[in-house]
Amino acid sequence: MKLWGGRFTKEEDQLVHNFNESLSFDQKFYKQDIQGSIAHVKMLEKQKIISTKEREQIIQGLETIQNDIESGKLVFDKESEDIHSFVEAHLIERIGNAGKKLHTGRSRNDQVALDMKLYIREELMETDALLKTLLGSLLNVMENNTETFMPGFTHLQKAQPITLAHHFGAYFEMFKRDRSRLHDIYKRMNYCPLGAGALAGTTYPLDREYTAKLLDFYGPTLNSMDSVSDRDYLIEYLSALSIIMMHLSRFCEEICIWNSNEYRFVNIDDSYSTGSSIMPQKKNPDIAELIRGKTGRVYGALISILTTMKGLPLAYNKDMQEDKELPFDAIDTVKSSLMLFTGMIDTMTFNTDIMEASTKHGFTNATDAADYLVNHGVPFRDAHGIVGKLVLFCEEKGIALDDMTLEEYQAISPVFQKDIYDAIRLDTCVDKRLTIGAPSPKTMQEVIEIYKDYLK
Ligand code: ARG
Repeated sequence: MKLWGGRFTKEEDQLVHNFNESLSFDQKFYKQDIQGSIAHVKMLEKQKIISTKEREQIIQGLETIQNDIESGKLVFDKESEDIHSFVEAHLIERIGNAGKKLHTGRSRNDQVALDMKLYIREELMETDALLKTLLGSLLNVMENNTETFMPGFTHLQKAQPITLAHHFGAYFEMFKRDRSRLHDIYKRMNYCPLGAGALAGTTYPLDREYTAKLLDFYGPTLNSMDSVSDRDYLIEYLSALSIIMMHLSRFCEEICIWNSNEYRFVNIDDSYSTGSSIMPQKKNPDIAELIRGKTGRVYGALISILTTMKGLPLAYNKDMQEDKELPFDAIDTVKSSLMLFTGMIDTMTFNTDIMEASTKHGFTNATDAADYLVNHGVPFRDAHGIVGKLVLFCEEKGIALDDMTLEEYQAISPVFQKDIYDAIRLDTCVDKRLTIGAPSPKTMQEVIEIYKDYLK
């Protein structure tokens, strides 16, 4: 059924219908559509715009429609234009005249604005919950690995020794920021557009405060033109989702590297790996690669809606129907990525011996050797030069700084004494990094306590 047949003399072309319809994808928020209608109808009755009997009939009708959709008794047809027409048509079919009053004082423009907001608000909270679960998994790894040494990298070159807990802590910070971004969006978006009408409000004495409250909003939006054409919250959400995917993708990239034959820092569990159809020895990190790959399509959804919105005059334009398919796909992609990533972390094992051995090679303690000289009165720039010479010497002999004899040290600088060996030991290098945010087990422990509190 069409909601707007009155002024038309010809049937809609089939191709036009197919191109114009949105039921195939906006059926996703049938629940929110019905929820919004129920609030609207309660308000209409409170304002004496419809009778109590009509309110009861409508609400009951809407509830049976929802039940029938959920039980599979009512299926989405190919004729309805969108979820709003679908629900209204079935309501009228079921309860007759009272159903025709549902849309009093409302337009599909404020209706769809409300449905989208309710849907995004729920999805946003779900994303937040998934992030929280992931943070719990990261914290678990951190607690068990404050003394698991591994090389920290810059330029993908070994730089200074850190711990596995410290490395995971970096991602803990990222996903923590992602959550706080979601909380910000929630605060900004949580105002109700219902009652804005097509664009200019209505002449009915609607109580917008009341519907806003029924639907758990802070209050009604304050400009009806903006209310029906605002999709900022969706753009903000997609941008937060893009940043989440960027973080996941960086982590996945590291996991692919750590899982490579050359590194062997981690073993991805069999249940999160796949094999090759031709090479029997292969165990591939497909899940990490796929999450890294899917990041592109989430960015795509963000760029798409930004581009759709940029040329739109006020107020509603049909272009805005494009706010659904790609965003919905992006939301589902992020949710499954977060779930799978968390599962992969929970089941992954760490080859801590290999990590530690790798830290011992590659001169990750060179900075500490220079700091030793500084502590003995050598200016840092000179110390840097002296240790450069040590590294060159070691590279030629194929040994580590720890393997040089004291004579060899003193041949390059007489400042070195026997205590140099203690000063450049792996645990010393890490233990001495005591400023807050640094990797020493002591500071990591303090940070872990803060994170535990945060997750409570
Ligand atoms: N399916 C439409 C959308 O998603 C619903 C709003 C239709 N409003 C209109 N004036 N045609 O945007």
